[in-house]
Amino acid sequence: MTNHTAKKGIFKASVLQNRLLGDKFFRLTLEVEKKAKTVFSKSNPGQFAEIEVSSLALPPENAIPPQFADASKRNVILRRPFSFADIMVSEDNVILEILYMIVGAATVRMKTLKTGDKVSLIGPLGNGFSFSDDKKAALLVAGGMGAPPLVHLAGFMKEKYPNTDIVVFVGTKSVSDLAFFDIKFDKFDKKKIKLGEFEKHNIQTHISTDDGSAGTKGFVTEVLKKWIIENKPDINNTIMYACGPDRMLHASAAVSSEFKIPCQVSLERRMACGTGLCQSCAVKCVDKNTGDNFYKLCCKDGPVFWADEVVWQ
Ligand SMILES: Cc1cc2nc3c(=O)[nH]c(=O)nc-3n(C[C@H](O)[C@H](O)[C@H](O)COP(=O)(O)OP(=O)(O)OC[C@H]3O[C@@H](n4cnc5c(N)ncnc54)[C@H](O)[C@@H]3O)c2cc1C
Ligand code: FES
Repeated sequence: MTNHTAKKGIFKASVLQNRLLGDKFFRLTLEVEKKAKTVFSKSNPGQFAEIEVSSLALPPENAIPPQFADASKRNVILRRPFSFADIMVSEDNVILEILYMIVGAATVRMKTLKTGDKVSLIGPLGNGFSFSDDKKAALLVAGGMGAPPLVHLAGFMKEKYPNTDIVVFVGTKSVSDLAFFDIKFDKFDKKKIKLGEFEKHNIQTHISTDDGSAGTKGFVTEVLKKWIIENKPDINNTIMYACGPDRMLHASAAVSSEFKIPCQVSLERRMACGTGLCQSCAVKCVDKNTGDNFYKLCCKDGPVFWADEVVWQ
């Protein structure tokens, strides 16, 4: 398996755009400083950056969602981890796309970022997804805000592994939770939607929502399972990549084990340093040969792990 993982550093980036999508998502577009160009251009889907937010002011009171009014008053000392939804490399610059959701004190503050602002980031961090030329099909499974690194992965694979067939499965609670995608609604049936990020690469995409407001009603892993049963992919040449909440990753690991399709999962843990020093992001793993348990660090050894090395709790 090839891993294109690049070495990290502390860098500055300029905000090109910080655009509201729906009512709680933002697309943050950053141009990295010149000396960071090489390292970020070699970055691998699944790697992430720790963004400094402590110097950002709170938005005006009427721009803070009421449910975060109290939480947002907390000081934000630690950097926050975000994956890349895309990395665009040209001769002139390297641009990072970050899709984020407002969930608390740091992300409320990130709303205030505007064109021309400078942010400090540490990255690219962690180990991303790995690839091998012998895999002819890749099944990408995204749950909720787990989608950004898989959007990056899909574009990356289309460019570097054009002979691999990609099928994407996206699941959210409701249609409004898909708002961070470039959504195209069908003129006649609003439940039939297309996601621009995958459509532009001609990637087959299956959408599901828990409440049935878009795509198939149900969990994304049920749609995935049904697809595998109906399409019978050659398991020796197929790989799964999944990112999302732990319960959904656990279910993806179960599908991987049932159909014997190897699966890499990108995990999220609360992170402090992001570089392996504070030990706050431990992931319980199992040695497949001995059955012994041991711990890896999500920030340094992950965030991408093989699904069958994680002890799902
Ligand atoms: C490797 C990695 C990549 C990530 N990529 C993205 C991304 O692309 N887009 C995005 O919107 N978010 C991403 N996150 C999550 C993001 O880091 C958190 O949403 C952010 O740190 C929240 O900060 P806050 O101060 O606004 O909220 P907090 O006050 O810190 O948290 C608010 C709520 O969110 C929960 N939460 C916070 N961080 C995490 C986490 N890491 N895992 C599970 N629950 C958490 C808390 O338990 C709490 O309930 C990623 C996390 C990791 C570890
Ligand atoms: S976040 Fe500090 S060791 Fe992982």
